[in-house]
Amino acid sequence: MNLRDTLKINEEGHLEIGGADTVDLCKKFGTPLYALDYAYIKKTALSFADTIKRKYGDGAVAYASKAFSATALYKLFSGLGLYSDVVSKGEIYTALKGGMPADSLVMHGNNKQEYEIDYAVSEGVGYIVIDGMDEPGIIDAIAKKYDKLQKVLVRLNPGVEAHTHHFTQTAREDSKFGFSIKSGAADELIKSLFSYKNLIFSGLHCHIGSQIFDREAFGLANAVMTDYIKKLRDSYGITVDVLNLGGGFGVHYTDKDPLYTAEDYAGYVDFIAETLTANLLKKDIKKPFLIIEPGRSLIAEAGITLYTVGTVKDIKGIKKYYAIDGGMFENPRYALYRSEYSAIIANKAREEFSETVTLTGKCCESGDMIAEGIKLQKAQRGDVVAVFSTGAYNYSMSSHYNGNLTPPAVMIKDGEADYIIKPESCEDLIRNNNIPDFLN
Ligand code: LLP
Repeated sequence: MNLRDTLKINEEGHLEIGGADTVDLCKKFGTPLYALDYAYIKKTALSFADTIKRKYGDGAVAYASKAFSATALYKLFSGLGLYSDVVSKGEIYTALKGGMPADSLVMHGNNKQEYEIDYAVSEGVGYIVIDGMDEPGIIDAIAKKYDKLQKVLVRLNPGVEAHTHHFTQTAREDSKFGFSIKSGAADELIKSLFSYKNLIFSGLHCHIGSQIFDREAFGLANAVMTDYIKKLRDSYGITVDVLNLGGGFGVHYTDKDPLYTAEDYAGYVDFIAETLTANLLKKDIKKPFLIIEPGRSLIAEAGITLYTVGTVKDIKGIKKYYAIDGGMFENPRYALYRSEYSAIIANKAREEFSETVTLTGKCCESGDMIAEGIKLQKAQRGDVVAVFSTGAYNYSMSSHYNGNLTPPAVMIKDGEADYIIKPESCEDLIRNNNIPDFLN
């Protein structure tokens, strides 16, 4: 169980987050409810950022906003001096509305659309990360149209396999992401960039996967990347000013995962800074500006989701279900990846974890589960369930399946909670519905 920092059990035996009683949060805001702890996010972000400055020097942390794209989060992170990784026009729009400066944005995407590149260039996005052979021509033409010089990075596939779920591995040789170093595709693309007048080649990017605990994988990736930087210099006289090593740092979902403090998380950056500095020295390479792109590790553990227990179904000797008022529409990660979660009955937090239960949602689908066979307290209709570590890739991957509304999200600071995502209504659900004339 993930009881740390502001997640604690108060005198009434209720779970507390950010100084707020979760039972009170449910009364005030209803359920299901995403709740994010301001203090945890801030502490972790500053811990990453300070470690880069202290241990490496020139660099930046870019929040991978696919984990949770919301104006308030861009506001918070930009206020702390972070950059942001964005992957669509929608994320760029949200980031700008949240006050993130355009030049702090790093735009990704394996199939960026022309309208998205147009929007990025016209708004002045800091870097566009090239991930397609025909992208340089498209970006160059758009930059020319706006009479701009666009800085670009090139996404490489370093061929390092981190041991995570197949779908969250992104640097296998057969991945759709990045240019292969091995095959020569990267050389070909990078050399071609210098023929475009409105592009500035700034450097390289890689991202080796997600939910990675094995630090050696990051060491391996930066060894490959620095080898390649040296090759670009020695073979073609090309200089790399920016090195973006992506994100992917693992977080605690269940007791099988290490439980890191913000300082421990900084250990990833520490390790990257140390191995990178050693590699740069050994290979006699000028220090590039270092960017890392954590998403999950910045906000997963800052978040919990609160639910109300509805039907309790005990199939004697087989399975016990606690049905909650959420499900795969607001957290599809079990359905997609069999991701594991831990939970607690938030209003009975001190009671014994005596039951083995499956937390199921309210969708019309057997696979609609949040956690299977986990230990929880005895619960009945009306009790509150808190699922831990749901700050990342829950809201951002939610849907309206079965006509369910996306739950609101609150951020809590010193016991005060306010919406960062307001509740939806049924009108929102049908806002873009249309009945063609021929049906009338
Ligand atoms: N940078 C790039 C280019 C990425 O593709 C990603 C994640 C990140 C940074 C951030 O990775 P993180 O630090 O959050 O691990 N939906 C999946 C996760 C997909 C991650 C995709 N890329 C999940 O729910 O686990």
